[in-house]
Amino acid sequence: MSNYKIALIRGDGIGPEVVNEAVRVMEQVGARFGHCFTYEDVLMGGCATDAVGKSYPDGTAQRCRACDAVLLGAVGGPKWGSDRPAQERPETALLAIRKDLGLYANLRPAVLRPALAEASPLKRETAQAGIDLMMVRELTGGIYFGRRDRYQTEDRGTEATDLMAYSELEIERIGRRAFELAMLRRKKVTSVDKANVLETSRLWRSVMHRLSAEYPEVTYEDMLVDNCAMQIVRNPGQFDVVVTENMFGDILSDEASMVTGSIGLLPSASIGDTAPGLYEPIHGSAPDIAGQDKADPIATILSVAMMFRYSFQLPREADAVETAVDAVLAQGWHTADIAGDPDKLVGTKEMGRLICAAIAG
Ligand code: IPM
Ligand code: MG
Repeated sequence: MSNYKIALIRGDGIGPEVVNEAVRVMEQVGARFGHCFTYEDVLMGGCATDAVGKSYPDGTAQRCRACDAVLLGAVGGPKWGSDRPAQERPETALLAIRKDLGLYANLRPAVLRPALAEASPLKRETAQAGIDLMMVRELTGGIYFGRRDRYQTEDRGTEATDLMAYSELEIERIGRRAFELAMLRRKKVTSVDKANVLETSRLWRSVMHRLSAEYPEVTYEDMLVDNCAMQIVRNPGQFDVVVTENMFGDILSDEASMVTGSIGLLPSASIGDTAPGLYEPIHGSAPDIAGQDKADPIATILSVAMMFRYSFQLPREADAVETAVDAVLAQGWHTADIAGDPDKLVGTKEMGRLICAAIAG
């Protein structure tokens, strides 16, 4: 019997609904495998702005650090837009928690689940070749966290600047994560950069080359980011682990998730060198369907599987969750985000219940 304490950031929009189903799944796994999960609610995002005037209330990071892992539903929404001061915007909180918890590695698997090959926007023969890639995005450096400024010029009006900076240390630690992951997968790493233009990319490339010498079993390649964007729609089956800097990873991970045809199904993990890791669905807060029992809880449920695998070293439990999700999808059950048999259309809660039932066996 082991005990784990999970911080729950339910957040905004559909966040609370999808977290509810993920918690039910954790309880089911706990019952089957003999683990005890306890939960600590942590307020963050637009809901925190409404409650206390700040999207990232004081003490948020400390409260998360007192837990073994963090599960996040979704934060954000049009109500707290870019016209608001920074401390009221949910995005500010997301960036702050990544930095404060040292979550420099963002793992975003893009997998075409067999039951859903038809949902992919790719040509049938491309989709049928399969997609199973792991995007490894650097999450606490680069242009997201560089110096930024806005100032007046004499003759060109206002000017703004965002600085992209990377150190060898930052590049090496994310690179190592990518190679270690590749060793557990199909042993291929594609490092994505813009070395034909950017100095940060040339440094990135030289550090990756040095690392690749340490992993002779791993096939390594460099790819320019514009070419990678093209290859993801042309032949995504060629990729195993893709490692890249923060902003390239932001953009390419949306693209990679889209070609699987099921952004509502994709989980993510953000991890550092110390606990806790943070787990969240890739999709946003979808305010248009919030509170209507329509959201797909699968991405959050699969994020729990990643938590079991990467934070708790519980691969059997992670497999049980993933197998249950595949079984439910294979029976044709789906939420409204996925096309399918109208007789098998279910809501958020029923999808959670079906997955729990499959885990119980
Ligand atoms: C993501 C999101 C965030 C990012 C935004 C909401 C700040 O797009 O997690 O990919 O750009 O990192
Ligand atoms: Mg993004």
